[in-house]
Amino acid sequence: MNILIETERLILRELEYTDENDLFEMDSGPEVHLFIENNPVKSIDEIQKAIKMLKEQYVENGIARWAVVDKLSNECIGWSGLKYFNEQINNHKNFYELGYRFKKKHWGKGFATESSIAVLNYGFKNLGVDTIFAIADPNNVNSKKVLTKLGFQFQETFDYEGDPTDWFELKKTIWENK
Ligand SMILES: CC(C)(COP(=O)(O)OP(=O)(O)OC[C@H]1O[C@@H](n2cnc3c(N)ncnc32)[C@H](O)[C@@H]1OP(=O)(O)O)[C@@H](O)C(=O)NCCC(=O)NCCS
Repeated sequence: MNILIETERLILRELEYTDENDLFEMDSGPEVHLFIENNPVKSIDEIQKAIKMLKEQYVENGIARWAVVDKLSNECIGWSGLKYFNEQINNHKNFYELGYRFKKKHWGKGFATESSIAVLNYGFKNLGVDTIFAIADPNNVNSKKVLTKLGFQFQETFDYEGDPTDWFELKKTIWENK
């Protein structure tokens, strides 16, 4: 199924190969990658591989990060969505994790929060899960602010492939009573 969700200012849909220039613009930005491995993308080839991987996840898991499109300009400004993890991380397995990433020029406009609200509604209503998780670099203040606004609660800092990483969770009951 090709999911399409509309919010006040945004459209959320599956990522396509035609998004490659927008994703390259976003992922070649050093600030965007500061707290996510700090290794900005250098070629469009890397973006094409990433889109291929996401398309495989749509088929295998029914869901993955979604393109976030500005309704007014039709520009793909970034992505937001749930990734299904079937490997063990921080003693958890088979769970959905919220993630988001936007072009630097679109930070500070509330797009991460607006798109994530739609993603979480979809997760809790359509996927039937009790808890959605999130992880962030402890120094990623912007991301942690978004998570806190959404109702995520910090659980602990754990070792993720050698890096201290903050682990958050959001329970369906908390989401529904916000
Ligand atoms: C993490 C990231 C997505 C956060 O983006 P963001 O734009 O700061 O987050 P929001 O969408 O919640 O926008 C927040 C700001 O928009 C402002 N804003 C402006 N117009 C708004 C509106 N109409 N509605 C809501 N907020 C609005 C808010 O006041 C808020 O500012 P504040 O943080 O100073 O209070 C962004 O920094 C990013 O892409 N980082 C790189 C990738 C990354 O680190 N991803 C997370 C990995 S864990």
